[in-house]
This record gives sequence, structure tokens and C-alpha cells, in this order.
Amino acid sequence: MTHILHRQLRGALPTAAGGHGIVIVDANGNEYLDASGGAAVSCLGHGHPDVVAAMHAQIDRLAYAHTSFFTTAVAESLADHLIGHAPSGMSHVYLVSGGSEAIEAALKLARQYFVEIGEPQRRHFIARRQSYHGNTLGALAVGGNAWRRAQFAPLLIEVTHVAPCYEYRDRRDGESPEAYGERLAHEIEDAIERLGPRNVIGFVAEPVVGATLGAAPPVPGYFRRIREICDRHGILLIADEVMCGMGRTGTLYAVEQEGIAPDLAAIAKGLGGGYQPIGAVLVQQRIIASLERGSGFFQHGHTYIGHPVACAAALAVQQVIERDRLLDAVKTLGAQLAQRLRAVFGGHRHVGDIRGRGLFMAIELVEDRETRQPFDPALRLHARIKAEAMARGLMVYPMGGTIDGRSGDHVLIAPPFITTPAEIDEIVRRLAAAVDAAIAAVARQKTPA
Ligand SMILES: Cc1ncc(COP(=O)(O)O)c(C=O)c1O
Repeated sequence: MTHILHRQLRGALPTAAGGHGIVIVDANGNEYLDASGGAAVSCLGHGHPDVVAAMHAQIDRLAYAHTSFFTTAVAESLADHLIGHAPSGMSHVYLVSGGSEAIEAALKLARQYFVEIGEPQRRHFIARRQSYHGNTLGALAVGGNAWRRAQFAPLLIEVTHVAPCYEYRDRRDGESPEAYGERLAHEIEDAIERLGPRNVIGFVAEPVVGATLGAAPPVPGYFRRIREICDRHGILLIADEVMCGMGRTGTLYAVEQEGIAPDLAAIAKGLGGGYQPIGAVLVQQRIIASLERGSGFFQHGHTYIGHPVACAAALAVQQVIERDRLLDAVKTLGAQLAQRLRAVFGGHRHVGDIRGRGLFMAIELVEDRETRQPFDPALRLHARIKAEAMARGLMVYPMGGTIDGRSGDHVLIAPPFITTPAEIDEIVRRLAAAVDAAIAAVARQKTPA
């Protein structure tokens, strides 16, 4: 009997009891290769000695000081480090405790910016379908996952959603990737025109879409066009790098690979690598300058923002990534992971697409490769793959509703940056076995003996 309101009220979870490297050990001694870092969180795996030592040292020094009374050396150092490695023009960091909080802060800061500069009529956000920005009400409102939003819709602020950049399904035959990106950009421009360009606050997007679409990268030129559209209308570009950021795609920020800088960037998961709950919003200098000239404060705040132990963990994680040149490792291991996935699933009759960047990869499952028809959502193939993978000592991050919040299945693979080449091979081997077992079970259910 549990007194925790778990995510699911039915079914029992194993108890995580320990962890080392990329392995989590349960209370029965079973070991699981953490090939998804939970939900693309544990970039340094589990029990990293440098991170653990940094947290211990901070706890011994000072565990907590409220940010309305004090700043701390560790929070200042973390902010210095982040700004020192940030997309160009970023000057300040707002520290929070997770991804949803980062998005909420970004939305409010964006709105306050326009109030401060005398454009209070701006009140609309544009975001994309098949995106995920968090589960708090503001983040859920900008998010475009129909299923997650449905029952809470009456509570959500109005947001205009446009198409995601989902090349596998939405690029037309004979359409170049660039032309596809251009078509999407036109849709955004149309939405802006409909709302009135001077009424729009910001455009929110994950540079590489994580949980909802499964590591879907943008087509070339897409974000440059969006940057140009936003600039033309004075609209803020808010990059949600919560999942794809902090090195996961091979550069610290995924948006770097698009050759642009956002106005606000939300980060979380890989920031603290799961050692502590922490997130942040990076802010462009000109936004800060307008607040300095105006009210002189950001009308926001939570009890635990800038938590010293969380900052110590995040600073240590980021220093290890830099010291151990782990972005290079992400590129090398990512290339190996992509190669292994292609070798194993490239000819698989139920894998329609293999996509992603760096150590942020996914396979999309289909009933029929030719027509790209998904499996019947009632079969819950993604959930079966997760169960089969766990039974084989493998953690991956499968999700359903890939196409429209209802149909489609994908599996996200996001191993820690410290994974060894041998572990990459083993991850793909176990994944292949789990996928085949799940598909076999689905086939048996469809054609009962
Ligand atoms: C892109 C993105 N944004 C925001 C969030 C919300 O972060 P959190 O779960 O830390 O609130 C997530 C979580 O999965 C995410 O993937």
C-alpha cells in the first residue's frame, strides 16, 4: 500500500535503490541501463563523484538562503558560467526549479517586457502543435499536445498553434526541405497577420522537439526564417531548450545549430542532470535593459529560485561537461548511436523513421512502412515497448500520440554523455529485442489463436 499519488494509480513501480554510471539498480538488485536519462535528464549518469562532492560541500557551507534577502556565490558562479557559454546577446539568467517553471517565467517576462516598453496591447503567444512545454497552466497552454491539454482546456490562456516541423510526415512528395520550411514560415506569418503583428508577444518552440514528436529536428533555414519574421514584427522568439539543450544534441544549445540566437531560452533537465531540481531562463541584454529603465524588477518569484544546492549541482554538471569535453563525446557517441540504429532498424518493417541529433535520437513505429500508417492507438504499442525494455533491463522513453496527440508511437533514446561505445551497442541490442517482443505481442492480440 502506497500513500504516494503516483503518476498512475494502477500498477506497481520498481523501487530505485541505487545508481552508478548509466545504471539504476532497483531494490531487488535488478539493473537497468538508463538509455533515456529518465526523460533526457541524467546527462552525467548516476552518482557522478564530482557532482556529489560539490553538493556535499555546498550543504556543509549553506543549504538555503531566500533570494529576497541574499544572493549566493554559487548562484552567481552558475549564472557567470551559463552566460559565458550562452547564445549571443544573453546577459542574465533567471534561476528556477524545473522546466515548467522556466517556461512560466519566460512567458511572464516576455509579457512584462512589452508592458515596460509601452506596448501593453501585446497579449498573444504563438506556439506549435505536437510540442510539450510543461504541465503548469501557462506551459500547458502554449504546449501543443492535444491529449495533455484536452480536459484542462477551459483553464488555459488562448494560444494560437501552428504546424510543427515534422519532416517525416508533413513534407510533401517533391517538396525540398527548404521549401517545406518556407511553407511553415508562411503559416506563422499568416497567424501573425490574423492576430495583428503588434498584438503578438512571442513565438515559442522547441528547436528539436522532444517528448511529443520524438527528437524531431527542424529543416534547414526554418529557424532563420522564424528569427527574421519575429524581428520584422518585434515579436520575441522563445526557445524551449528544456529537453534538447545543455549539450544533448552536440552543441550546448540546440538552436546554435540553426545559426540564430533566441530572445529567451528556457533550460532545465540537463542543466542539473537530475542531481537537483533546477531550471533557468536566459535573457537577452535588451530585455533586461528595458526592465532596468522601467520598473526595475521582474514581477515573479518562487521560494526556491536560485537554491544554493541546486546551483552547486548544476555548476558542477556544467563544469564536468566542459572539463571532460563531453560535447565532443555527444557528437561521437551520437554518430555511433545513429549508425547502430540505422543498422538495426533501417530495414525494419515497422520502423518508419530514425531521426535526431547527437545523443537525442528516436525511432517512429509504423504498422506499414509504405503508407506510414501508424499502429492502432488502442494497442498502446509504446507502453508495451517500455515494459518489454524494462523487462530487459533497459530504460528508454517511448510515447504515443506522435502524429496528432492520439495516433503514432515513437521511442526516444537519450543516454548520458558518459555512456561507453560498448554500452551504446548494448542499448540498441536490447531495444531491438524489446521492440520485436512488443510488436509480436501486438500481432498476437490482433490475430487471437
Ligand atoms: C521541452 C520541454 N519543456 C518543458 C518541460 C517541462 O519540464 P518539467 O517537467 O521540468 O517541468 C519538458 C519536460 O519534459 C520538456 O521536455
